[in-house]
Amino acid sequence: MSDHEERVFSGVQPTGNLHLGNYLGAIKKFVALQERHTCLYCVVDMHAITEWQEPEALRRSIRELTAAYLAVGIDPKAHIIFNQSQVSCHAELAWIFNCVARMGWLSRMTQFKEKAGKHRENASVGLFAYPNLMAADILVYKATHVPVGDDQKQHLELARDIAQKFNTDFAASIAARGHGDAFFTLPEPLITGPATRVMSLRDGSRKMSKSEESDMTRINLADDADTIAQKIRKARTDPEPLPSEPAGLEDRPEARNLVGIYAALCDRTVEETLAEHGGAQFSAFKQALTDLMVETLTPIGEETARLLTDTGHIDAVLADGAARARTVAEPILRQVKDIVGFVQG
Ligand code: TYM
Repeated sequence: MSDHEERVFSGVQPTGNLHLGNYLGAIKKFVALQERHTCLYCVVDMHAITEWQEPEALRRSIRELTAAYLAVGIDPKAHIIFNQSQVSCHAELAWIFNCVARMGWLSRMTQFKEKAGKHRENASVGLFAYPNLMAADILVYKATHVPVGDDQKQHLELARDIAQKFNTDFAASIAARGHGDAFFTLPEPLITGPATRVMSLRDGSRKMSKSEESDMTRINLADDADTIAQKIRKARTDPEPLPSEPAGLEDRPEARNLVGIYAALCDRTVEETLAEHGGAQFSAFKQALTDLMVETLTPIGEETARLLTDTGHIDAVLADGAARARTVAEPILRQVKDIVGFVQG
């Protein structure tokens, strides 16, 4: 990897079942991007522990997510799959960013407010500083593109603000060390397509999420065909048939969600999907959606389960990925330390 090429970085937390939102908002795009870019896909285990995780469950989830990355078709030889805690550069740069980012910036993060809820005093310090670690994940590789779902947009903006402030605060030192007028380029979020925000199957105003209590609100990548069929059959809808134009989905959040999911699963636009299914009753559309979902997701679930029978292989993929990630991150972190004024051996 040279220092100046386009580089993709993204991460997913190993905190339990992966769901359709993770797949359509992020992981499916990871696969497509590897055709034309150099990619690093991270299992962000240090982010996971910002909220309590049972150690054995965490270990299992790290391996499950790694297996899922492999099962969807990410190539661990051409690209890099690794877990964050094996590359200490992330934590080291995050500390420097703790001293660049401002309390006020982090206080405005909606995800922190949602997760900490009324018990702010009881939230971990890590949960508050979480976006600084996320900025470090991206910038320690000087990544240029970051595929994520819509809910990560604000964190990405913060990463750009941190990069910008670092460049400004240390402008003289950056120039004196021959890096020109900016050390970090600002990473671009890639938030595209018809399913950047997949909603709950039971309430079109709520995001599909791992933390939602009822399993009927989400499709898990590990769900079998019968479970998928049952969840789609019971998904909330309205009594009208599907419209033929996207404008007809306004004020119909559940219909819009199912159409967006369908479109994203088969790589079509919402317009194309409605051109084909406009006028259909939900009973027929739900059947088509179930067939498409089963066809797409069940092979991934089965392959993930198969890969998990050999944890030695999974752990070897992570160790190899971490070693290769370090070769990219270490020289960049060294330059950052030099810019900041640390003396190094
Ligand atoms: P996480 O683990 O919550 O989610 C992983 C990815 O799935 C996307 N996603 C969704 N997309 C559409 N609809 C939904 N309902 C939905 N739910 C989740 C998320 O947007 C994300 O892309 N902070 C990140 C992990 C992270 C990261 C990074 C991402 C850590 N460091 C550096 C990019 C770059 C997170 O908690 O994602």
